[in-house]
Amino acid sequence: MKYNFDEVIDRSRNRSSKYDEREKVFGTMDVIPLWVADMDFRTAQPIIDACVKKAEEGIWGYTSRPASYFEAVQEWEVRRNQWKPDTAMMSWSIGVVPAMASLIKLFSQPGDKILFQTPVYAEFYDITEHTGRTVVESQMVRTDKGWEIDFDEFAAKAKGCKIFLLCNPHNPLGIVWTPEQLQKMVAICKENGILVVSDEIHSDLIFHGKKHTPTVKAVPGYADHIITCVSATKTFNLAGLQASTTIFPNREMKDRFDTYWSSMDIHRNNAFSSVAMEAAYREGEEWLEQLLPYISANFDYVREFCAAHIPEIKPNLPDATYLMWLDCRDLKLSNEALVDFMVHKAKLGLNPGYTFGRSLTGYMRLNVACPRATLEKAMKQLKEAVDTLMKRK
Ligand SMILES: Cc1ncc(COP(=O)(O)O)c(C=O)c1O
Repeated sequence: MKYNFDEVIDRSRNRSSKYDEREKVFGTMDVIPLWVADMDFRTAQPIIDACVKKAEEGIWGYTSRPASYFEAVQEWEVRRNQWKPDTAMMSWSIGVVPAMASLIKLFSQPGDKILFQTPVYAEFYDITEHTGRTVVESQMVRTDKGWEIDFDEFAAKAKGCKIFLLCNPHNPLGIVWTPEQLQKMVAICKENGILVVSDEIHSDLIFHGKKHTPTVKAVPGYADHIITCVSATKTFNLAGLQASTTIFPNREMKDRFDTYWSSMDIHRNNAFSSVAMEAAYREGEEWLEQLLPYISANFDYVREFCAAHIPEIKPNLPDATYLMWLDCRDLKLSNEALVDFMVHKAKLGLNPGYTFGRSLTGYMRLNVACPRATLEKAMKQLKEAVDTLMKRK
């Protein structure tokens, strides 16, 4: 079946945080929302069909989770990443972020140091700080080739840390880590006895012929110290169903995690989430294969538009995710002024770069998982606002 990603869908009654929370986040509803990481596309038809079938059953009592769910996760990983995780080591979870927050609680103590590379998905800061742990930022460096790891700095920062939260592939920079890079990062963790928690939620959104490598597959020698978080929610736009899978290296760690969640009586899933996730893994590939070129063309559109009309803004070309990292430093605005400019002059709802890396100035994150027409409108507004700012005719 052919999917139409150009269709502009009215989400005003979709109970969408991306749309409904504009007033709360930006102080106005008058922005095109291109922030939180969900897509303005309908998901794959087989997923919709599976949920409609479930809805029509009309009985949504306490829900079981068949073994076929975990087998679907395993088969997906085998097919897409040539990695065969053990289904007996998988735990259901209500999202990657809640899973990671609980892993921090379970495998470190208050005050312990948690390492991650910045800029990074802002929740990494939140789950570290909200659990009373100490943030250790390893800052990536900007070079002519893009953002890179300074391994000497990473090794220095790793000393004394308990857990490394790895974003593989990387949000917001769209980096697909190579096996060699993963091996170097994990070797440093091994030297320091650090547990690695690998967030692989974006691992299906890969472009330009790159290949995702599951961290645990790249570094089998340290597999006993690597926990992997995966989900179909980012890939198939199912975040509102709150579902993910946490994959453990051994029974002891899995039991600790399961006991933690069971102690709050959170061990089942809602009636729709496992149905949707399993349909995604089993029947969603056709949709995904059509989505990826659409996103990739949106990346190219933004880059070409900026090069031609807004040279002060330099977007990256991400190899992963549907999020672009905009270098707006040539606008010469403070962080506060840049946010104000985007909201009130360009009328765009973007994520400020400093939320991903607190010492950064002059960056914004743009979500391009929307119809081209939405992006064209956004780029036109941005150009006009920058023209006025630069006093161009
Ligand atoms: C790197 C990363 N991890 C996790 C999440 C969210 O995961 P979940 O909704 O399963 O908690 C996101 C969402 O944007 C993300 O970018």
